[in-house]
Amino acid sequence: MTVRGALVAAATMLAVATGAQVASAAEVDFAPCASCHGENGVSYNVDTPSLAGQPSFYAITQLFLFRAGRRTNPLMTEMARPMSDADLRAYSELIGRLPPAPPAPGVPADPARMKRGAALAEQHRCTTCHGADLAGAKQVPRLAGQREEYLARALAEFRSGARIGYTPAMNETLTGLGAPELGDLAHYIAHASTLTGVAPAASAASR
Ligand code: HEC
Ligand code: HEC
Repeated sequence: MTVRGALVAAATMLAVATGAQVASAAEVDFAPCASCHGENGVSYNVDTPSLAGQPSFYAITQLFLFRAGRRTNPLMTEMARPMSDADLRAYSELIGRLPPAPPAPGVPADPARMKRGAALAEQHRCTTCHGADLAGAKQVPRLAGQREEYLARALAEFRSGARIGYTPAMNETLTGLGAPELGDLAHYIAHASTLTGVAPAASAASR
């Protein structure tokens, strides 16, 4: 099994495991997380993602990657290192229950960038994995309503290979895209949300 395969298998086992020793979401304290990720997981902090609306399966894979040192971020690595498997499960269950909220106010939508971003999203089929409404599912993250500068950085890190993830899906999807394209994609995604009234799949549906 490849390292990546082993990671997915381990995270999946964590996600589905049940037993008396499993901490319930009620037993973990979200307050330390909220100090960075915002109350109810809606982030007002630059460079810090909102967690609200993320599928719990996605959350546990990422906590697992942070703990294993496969996704590197000094702040999150520090948070995840002491966590037990039960903690990972409890936090991801809790995250899965945080209702998605309208995005924190950021850069206003620029019509030219929105148009370019929508065309790129369609061309590179972002909605085939992230969903027509970009809400994600299972181990695929929600993008709708995420902070723009965080999205831009995540895309740049997948593109450069600095973020490898548990699947090469994103590294492959972004092959050949330059910094201006990644910026336009992040701008479009940050604003394209059913919660802001800009339906992400509108352009695809009107073809
Ligand atoms: C000191 C600030 C800080 C604290 C405290 C913190 N985080 Fe984070 N978290 C971050 C940053 C910054 C990132 C983005 C890391 C990156 O870009 O790779 C992140 C990323 C994440 C992600 C991945 C999100 C995504 O969209 O990929 C999850 C899940 C997460 N944090 C959960 C938690 C939980 C659960 C707690 C509380 C136990 C917590 N965080 C506490 C700063 C923090
Ligand atoms: C083949 C399926 C697939 C396609 C197509 C795809 N993605 Fe992803 N995306 C994923 C998966 C799976 C992850 C989680 C990556 C990981 O940790 O391994 C992800 C992660 C992301 C993240 C990180 C989110 C976060 O919270 O950290 C962003 C941003 C993103 N994708 C944007 C895009 C954009 C923009 C497109 C279109 C250009 C796209 N994706 C196309 C499957 C896909």
